[in-house]
Amino acid sequence: MVEVYEFWAVIVSLIVVKLCHWIYQWKNPKGNGKLPPGSMGYPIIGETFEFMKLHDAIQLPTFVKEKLLRHGPVFRTSLFGGKVIISTDIGLNMEIAKTNHIPGMPKSLERLFGATNLFVNKDTHKHARSLTNQFLGSQALKLRMIQDIDFLARTHMKEGARKGCLDVKETASKIVIECLSKKVMGEMEPEAAKELTLCWTFFPRDWFRFAWNFPGTGVYRIVKARNRMMKVIKETVVKKRASGKKLGEFFETIFGDTESVTMSIEIATEYIFTLFVLANETTPGVLAATIKLISDNPKVMQELRREHEGIVQDKIKKDETADLTWEDYKSMTFTQMVINESLRITSTVPTVLRIIDHEIQFGDYTIPAGWIFMGYPYVHFNPEKYDDPLAFNPWRWKGKDLSTIVSKTYLPFGSGTRLCVGAEFVKLQMAIFIHHLFRYRWSMKAETTLLRRFILVLPRGSDVQIS
Ligand code: HEM
Repeated sequence: MVEVYEFWAVIVSLIVVKLCHWIYQWKNPKGNGKLPPGSMGYPIIGETFEFMKLHDAIQLPTFVKEKLLRHGPVFRTSLFGGKVIISTDIGLNMEIAKTNHIPGMPKSLERLFGATNLFVNKDTHKHARSLTNQFLGSQALKLRMIQDIDFLARTHMKEGARKGCLDVKETASKIVIECLSKKVMGEMEPEAAKELTLCWTFFPRDWFRFAWNFPGTGVYRIVKARNRMMKVIKETVVKKRASGKKLGEFFETIFGDTESVTMSIEIATEYIFTLFVLANETTPGVLAATIKLISDNPKVMQELRREHEGIVQDKIKKDETADLTWEDYKSMTFTQMVINESLRITSTVPTVLRIIDHEIQFGDYTIPAGWIFMGYPYVHFNPEKYDDPLAFNPWRWKGKDLSTIVSKTYLPFGSGTRLCVGAEFVKLQMAIFIHHLFRYRWSMKAETTLLRRFILVLPRGSDVQIS
């Protein structure tokens, strides 16, 4: 009897020792040199809950601000079960962006995008970028996309004005999805188009989370919504190919491209799906935030009204159709200043996300390979670079090159090897949306609130009254 008791006592002691050792190792990770300061929080959970606290969208998260004060510009932590380096140092962020290629994301996001994804896979990444540039680069936008966005924005705005109310985020999302769907699949059967749009409503808003995938969890719902969307896209493609019908420009290019001869429908669908997700999860939120910032600033409102009424009057005078041209877009100088300023002030998330693929020295510290890197564009809030940085002031962009999407003081779209490929598309879409909105009288509901939990959150919606 005593022997059995002793046996179990030894087993339990061993487990406790092993557990304590594991917790010690978790809290004190080893590197080849001195690690950046910081704390790893609780085992597995790390400091995720503090990091994910809801905060004012035009302020850096309190978590980052406090750590910055305590540890300086670069510190370590643990989020979503992974080891993370957070940096607010612009030099380090740009260096990492230039020299590291693997996207840094929690496992939940890897599940969402898929392991064979052209953008995630190091070998196919370059090819995916060059393909995307054919669809979303300025040449393609200028020649083809502008008419579609113009038509969709005009139609949705008219519909909103008829009803007297329009939700900015929802409308922007419809425009993005309809615009991309047409480019990808050409004319779709109404049933498939409806199903594809419907899938987004099943898509959980907060996909940046832990990776547990079992019924009831957010990741489970994400994966289900993803599989449903992929099925709709794939079925449409297979049907169209079988019946000899023309696909949209995206798929025609992908399948006609000599480098992609071997690309399967599965991989092509995954690639298209990535573009859909990235477009739909970013632009509508930023656009809603921009409209809120405009509506809170009467002087900005007034200047935008002047610019857009000018464009409309000019077209009437020249007896031109109401359709927007590339020249009209380029003439929207103040609008582009507003967009740049909005992207600056709402960049309160890391815009350089990578897995460190080789050890790197930062001052006395060694940043180890294998860790996730999150680079915040803290420079956007540096008073030496931007006077009164928390003020929404589009005039600060006066006389600057408005087409720049990245510089040493401006990184809303990231930098280096994974600089956002949708940047030009975003800016065009935002400008056209603003133009059509200013063809009407509108006001945003006063209770609209801009928050962030990694992703932009508008808990009270983004309705505007429009007539
Ligand atoms: C306001 C809207 C948007 C913002 C703020 C934004 C921001 C970003 C950022 C910061 C990155 C780079 C991450 C890094 O360097 O680690 C990125 C990458 C990317 N974005 Fe965007 N994005 C937006 C809209 C879009 C849209 C509309 C699309 C496509 C239609 C898109 C497609 C992509 C893709 C494919 C990548 C990955 C590029 C690569 O890995 O080479 N984005 N985006």
